[in-house]
Amino acid sequence: MSAIAVSLINMKGGVGKTTLATQLAHAAARRNLKTLAIDLDPQANLSQALLGAHRYVSHLNKKLPTVVNIFEQYVPPTVTAPSPGKVSMKDIIIQQVGYWSQTKLDLVPSRLELANTLKNPTGKERRLAKALSKISGDYDLILIDCAPTESILTEAAYHCSRYALVPVKPEFLATIGLPLLARSIAEFSEENGDHELDICGIVFNHSSSYSDGPESEASVLEVKLEAKKHSWHVYGTRVRYSRSYAKAAREAAPISSTSYVRSNVSAQFSVFANEFFKSIGI
Ligand SMILES: Nc1ncnc2c1ncn2[C@@H]1O[C@H](COP(=O)(O)OP(=O)(O)OP(=O)(O)O)[C@@H](O)[C@H]1O
Ligand SMILES: [Mg+2]
Repeated sequence: MSAIAVSLINMKGGVGKTTLATQLAHAAARRNLKTLAIDLDPQANLSQALLGAHRYVSHLNKKLPTVVNIFEQYVPPTVTAPSPGKVSMKDIIIQQVGYWSQTKLDLVPSRLELANTLKNPTGKERRLAKALSKISGDYDLILIDCAPTESILTEAAYHCSRYALVPVKPEFLATIGLPLLARSIAEFSEENGDHELDICGIVFNHSSSYSDGPESEASVLEVKLEAKKHSWHVYGTRVRYSRSYAKAAREAAPISSTSYVRSNVSAQFSVFANEFFKSIGI
């Protein structure tokens, strides 16, 4: 069996794509799923949240390969390797970035230079999918963290994915990216008739028990209405607001092992994770 690949997508920024990708990767590893996390955002927040800032900077300083080299198809010359080098997924994947040493959580890191790929995108949209096809048998789950704007990178993520998971922050204008996403997926499906890409669900993130007032509930209703229009599933569990998520990213830790995390926060994330795994057939 090859891995189930899921992209975290929303054309709106700051909704929790990276936070959920990070925490679902930890949750998957905890459940003994062989997991590969792929950072497809030049901001490289997922890379930092899994590796920790220190290890990530050291990776960059050593000029080790990243997802950029998959799109560019070569490794540029350096002092130690003074001519263009071959790209192999094996060299790009950083193994064992997870919290527990006995579980398998690997990472394809990103770096700022991924933005250059956007400037010269022709013919690059299938390169990641092709590269993954060679190693997807080594994993149960592949999670891809996307950037908030639609680009060749979004298309590359679609080519790799069976499902898209859509985090939404319940606030004013929450629905703004959803029609765009619907159109973009419909266009992709039209052009790629043999590819089955579905939205596995919409998850409300950042939902705060303090500020869940009329504004937030109005936005939840709007999102549910939009979801219904497209027959998209909406997860019953909402991921609540907690400062521990930012702390978890800083500590490169699963939410359940983050210092001073409240047990209801970590328990609730685990309920969402179970719901998510079930929705993709795991
Ligand atoms: N449930 C939550 N509770 C509290 N803070 C959260 C929660 N989810 C995300 N955040 C915080 O909100 C900010 C944005 O989250 P995140 O980076 O995951 O969003 P994103 O969708 O990946 O953003 P971008 O579009 O820039 O990639 C971060 O500072 C993160 O720590
Ligand atoms: Mg992000």
